[in-house]
Amino acid sequence: MGEKSSRLPGFYKRPLDERVDIVAEWAGLDAADVAVLKGQGLANEQADKMIENTLGTFAVPLGIAANFLINGRDYLIPMAVEEPSVVAAVSNAAKKIRAGGGFHTEATDPVMIGQIQVLDIPDMEAAIAAIEANQAELLEIANCCDRVIVELGGGARKIEARPFPDTPVGPMLIVHLHFDTRDAMGANAINTSLESLAPKIAELTNGRTNLRILSNLADQRTATARCTIPANQLATADIPGSDVAKLIEEANAFAIVDPYRAATHNKGIMNGIDAVCIATGNDWRAVEAGAHTYAARNGQYSALTDWHVDENGDLYGEITLPMAVGMVGGATKVHPTARAAMKILNVASAPELAQVMAAVGLAQNLAAINALATVGIQKGHMRLHARQVALAAGAQDGLVQKIADKLVAEQNIRVERAAQLLAETKETLNSVTG
Ligand code: MEV
Repeated sequence: MGEKSSRLPGFYKRPLDERVDIVAEWAGLDAADVAVLKGQGLANEQADKMIENTLGTFAVPLGIAANFLINGRDYLIPMAVEEPSVVAAVSNAAKKIRAGGGFHTEATDPVMIGQIQVLDIPDMEAAIAAIEANQAELLEIANCCDRVIVELGGGARKIEARPFPDTPVGPMLIVHLHFDTRDAMGANAINTSLESLAPKIAELTNGRTNLRILSNLADQRTATARCTIPANQLATADIPGSDVAKLIEEANAFAIVDPYRAATHNKGIMNGIDAVCIATGNDWRAVEAGAHTYAARNGQYSALTDWHVDENGDLYGEITLPMAVGMVGGATKVHPTARAAMKILNVASAPELAQVMAAVGLAQNLAAINALATVGIQKGHMRLHARQVALAAGAQDGLVQKIADKLVAEQNIRVERAAQLLAETKETLNSVTG
């Protein structure tokens, strides 16, 4: 795996089937995976077993981001996303980051937090003391249920008592369970543990337990990605690279101080991370919830990234965010396309998957603020948007790009105009062939 390069020059120009073959060869996919990628992926019968009242499936495009070099290893990144330019932009950013040695990433142990709400406690101090004095027994009870995770070295790590003396319904105690879920996202494991733990917590506190559920603010389960981009990689036809680096630092500073900008800045990060979550069958709502709450952890919603010009004049970037993702169980194992995507990624553990996602988020953010700080976002977007407009007007095959190019040249990217152009082109073709 190590010696394989994720540089795929000209990949985007290849016909779709050939792209699947290239990736299949690269990742060692078998014929069944190739059939899944070339077909529709999730069959209705499988979908029917996944949720309730199923009608069918809802497909989104699956693409491959190229150029990722993470901790010295090349990765091809499967991304499921409906928004044009996300995959192209992240691949482009990863190429610039690659020129600086790629991403350096790390992740914590996959420790999820679960919460038990306790009310009607007669003596809060005594309740907290009782929980602290009984840690060992509580951890043992918490380890009752998922023996596989425990045997793999995971399981309950710590119990914490967090009093809230003043809430709209009076004082309450929130008990936190820290639980290492290994390669699982772990929602089921931790929720089951919490339910087993609650009666003992009620007994120790002389209180009444209400909610027992994991927290999506998974701040004990974070991933970090860092990179340094040589300033010359950022140069455009009009702007020297060192100036672009400074413009990117300014863009990031804007998102640090202003929540209105931070929302959009972080949305761009999640464009990439969500797409990998979806492709790998992970719960992107959980990751979204964690990311945005983490972004507000200091009391004001802010940027998840830091970008600044370093002492050599190069651009340094860093991101840390909660990353509750798994590689066993759930849709990751059930959805055939997710299974193929996981084979393409070829990660060995959930923390490795988390690191890949952090790298994708950092690259996606760089792509956005690099464009915003130089040519503006619309130029690239419009080119791709024009293809969708051409498709919406009914263009097929080679005509899609032809019509899209005309729309861009005319700066009139509307379905009505695309339909007109399509009709004109078809007329011309008919008169030539007829
Ligand atoms: C669009 O989906 C995402 C961006 O708005 C992100 C950003 O502004 O940083 C381009």
